[in-house]
This record gives sequence, C-alpha cells and structure tokens, in this order.
Amino acid sequence: MKTINTNKFIGVFDSGVGGLTVVKEIMNLLPKENIVYLGDTARVPYGNKSKETIIKYSIENTKFLLKHNIKLLVVACNTSSSYAIPSLKKMFKNLKIVDVVSTGAKAAVNSTKNNRIGVIGTKATIRSRAYEKKIKKYLKKAKIYAQATPLFVPLIEEGWIDKVYYEGKEYIRSINHENIIRQVSVEYLAPLKEKNIDVLILGCTHYPAIKMIIQDVMGKSVKVVDSAVETALVVKDILTKYKLLNDQNKTPSYKFFVTDDPKSFAKVGSLLLNKELKYVKKVNL
Ligand code: DGL
Repeated sequence: MKTINTNKFIGVFDSGVGGLTVVKEIMNLLPKENIVYLGDTARVPYGNKSKETIIKYSIENTKFLLKHNIKLLVVACNTSSSYAIPSLKKMFKNLKIVDVVSTGAKAAVNSTKNNRIGVIGTKATIRSRAYEKKIKKYLKKAKIYAQATPLFVPLIEEGWIDKVYYEGKEYIRSINHENIIRQVSVEYLAPLKEKNIDVLILGCTHYPAIKMIIQDVMGKSVKVVDSAVETALVVKDILTKYKLLNDQNKTPSYKFFVTDDPKSFAKVGSLLLNKELKYVKKVNL
C-alpha cells in the first residue's frame, strides 16, 4: 500500500510554460519523484482574466491532473494561487494542495528585517492583494508594496531568459535580450526601490528565469524571494510528513501536457528546465 502511494505523481499546473521554474526546483530537491505537469497554453495568460475565469480554469486543470492519480497538487501559477485556492480546497477536500502565494509570503516574512516587503506579479495577482493578505496574516506590522509587471511574461515566453547552461558552463543567451529585460526591470522596479524594501517576492511563475537581472537592479541589500525554491521545500516537507516521499531508485517519470502546440512549449520549456522535454502531449480539457 505504501509503495503505491509514494509512487504516485506530483501534479503541477500553470497557465503555461512558466510553472516549469517550480518543476525545476522540485526535480532538483526531489530527484526521485514522478511529476505530471499541465500547462494551459491555449488559455494563457491568466494574468489579465477575471476571478471567475481563473477559478474555472484552475478547477478544470485540477480535474485533469486528478485523472493521473496524483498524491499532491502544486498550483504553480501565482494568478491561480491568488484566486482559486479556497475553491479548490472546498471542491477537492482530500487533496494535498501547495500554492505558491502561501509559500512565497511565508519565506518573505522569514527574511525581512525591516518589515518592508515588495511584491511583483501579473495584474490579476496584484489586484487580488493575495500576497498582502497572507503576509499580514504572518506579520501584522508588515508594509507591503506591490507592483504589476506584465511585460515580463511575454518576454520570457519568447525565451529571453537570464542564462543557459551547457555542459556545466553558464552562457548569457543574448546581450540584447539581457539589455531589454534590464531596461524593463529598471522602469518597473524604480518605485519599489524608493520604498526601502529589504525583500522582494517574485510573485509570478516566470520571474525566476530573470532572477539574476532583477537581483542586480534591486541591489545586494534586497533579498529576492523565489517562490519556486520555497515551494519545492514545502512539497518536500509535506511528503515527508505524510510518508509519501518516493523511495524507489527508478528513473523518475516526467509527463508534460499542454492545451496548445506542444512544440513551442518543448522549446521554451527545455530552456527553463535546462533539459530536453521528452514527453509533451496536447490534450483537450
Ligand atoms: N503563470 C502566471 C502567474 O504566475 C503568469 C502567466 C499568466 O499570466 O498566465 O501568475
């Protein structure tokens, strides 16, 4: 019985390819785990949709992943995490759910010394004030400064990301791309820099891909919290607590499903994951 449970997949969904930043951290931290991923690429972006639509899509994504017999669900999409968690918890009562907003908020609270925390994300995430509410729950006196940074997502979807790794070496993909991302970052982050924050939450799946540039623009005194790293740690904690860690020494199975063109997903996905995506299939939800 134990073996059957531990063997099950970790289910992860996102509106598109960005959630692979979370998958990458889970793969690094928990290399024995089987992972099934759904990228809702036909309906991306979620970041400019209404609350009702985001909840509807998140429920459909969860139902799809449940068909794959998952032991835990990771809502990797910050926009879904900002709106849909209460509905998902109500609808799927027995499912263990990890969301990126709770994990990012907790990590920020643990890191701040001056209680001044910045958050960047999609328009919908910022509008929801989900990070603010969570942070206030953990740290009443916190001051939160939020900024929507919608241009980052399409740039990263283009594959304009920080660095690539090849045979153990790091290469900047394109100086031009880096300059553009840097320019956009300087513009977006200027108001946050004025607020004397000491922590900045990357409140969007895609942003870990440009973390180095954001860190550079904010300066060394600001700790950049990457929800992807924090989420992987929480997944490990929960699986450990419920004795659900996969202890088999088999090569893990990674399955990727998308609702639109698998080829472009595999292309950008391989940059984000730094490995080839072998199993990518298109599905209708
Ligand atoms: N995955 C979304 C998020 O983390 C970003 C892309 C989108 O707008 O759907 O908020």
